[in-house]
Amino acid sequence: MDRPPWAPDEVDIAAPGVARVYDYYLGGSHNVESDRTFGQRVLDPYPALPAVLRENRGFLRRVVRRVAAAGVDQFLDLGSGIPTVGNVHEMARAATPGARVVYVDHDPVAITHSRELLAGDPRTYMLAADFLDPDRVLAEAVARGGLDLDRPVAVLALSCCTSCRTPDVPPTSWPGTSGGSPRAATWPSATVGRTASPTRSRDSAATRGSGR
Ligand SMILES: C[S@@+](CC[C@H](N)C(=O)[O-])C[C@H]1O[C@@H](n2cnc3c(N)ncnc32)[C@H](O)[C@@H]1O
Repeated sequence: MDRPPWAPDEVDIAAPGVARVYDYYLGGSHNVESDRTFGQRVLDPYPALPAVLRENRGFLRRVVRRVAAAGVDQFLDLGSGIPTVGNVHEMARAATPGARVVYVDHDPVAITHSRELLAGDPRTYMLAADFLDPDRVLAEAVARGGLDLDRPVAVLALSCCTSCRTPDVPPTSWPGTSGGSPRAATWPSATVGRTASPTRSRDSAATRGSGR
């Protein structure tokens, strides 16, 4: 399989990757054959999946617009994925031009492509990190991303908990962000199979029960 120029050498393009499969469903261009083959296989039992994921992006955009319109100008986007139409900084700045956004992901393609897109924008930062390590994420979001934790930070965790190892490791329970910090999360509630980053779903009772 030929390696596309946007895929760093360390990326195993023979195995599907969550961020790239998601990109495929959204109609993006950062996916390869293994992603598309896997993605198609999942569509047999879940043909509505691309529509659900587009709706998830729509929800993300509505949340960001509403939160920014309410005056929040700092965003922490966990599991931000490969940039696509309607990224958080674009939505936030439509309402609050000076909004600051820290994106967090551990997928090399998402990181590389986000850094290219955000180059030269001093009010955005792409943090390559595991969001299951909140202490590190917050420390770097302050030191490199310029977030001020004494003021509200909108914590976004949309469709990204697929790698959480237990139901009680929600990346939205962030001690360290101020009391007025809004949080938004979505979870898939069906098992979609195996990728390079194993996917785990939760049922709605588990997510309701966690209160997040
Ligand atoms: C399905 S995409 C969702 C993208 C975006 N949040 C959205 O809702 O459109 C999930 C992303 O979460 C990232 N991710 C999953 N577990 C992660 C972890 N523990 N740390 C950092 N990123 C993670 C994946 O690499 C992927 O890019």
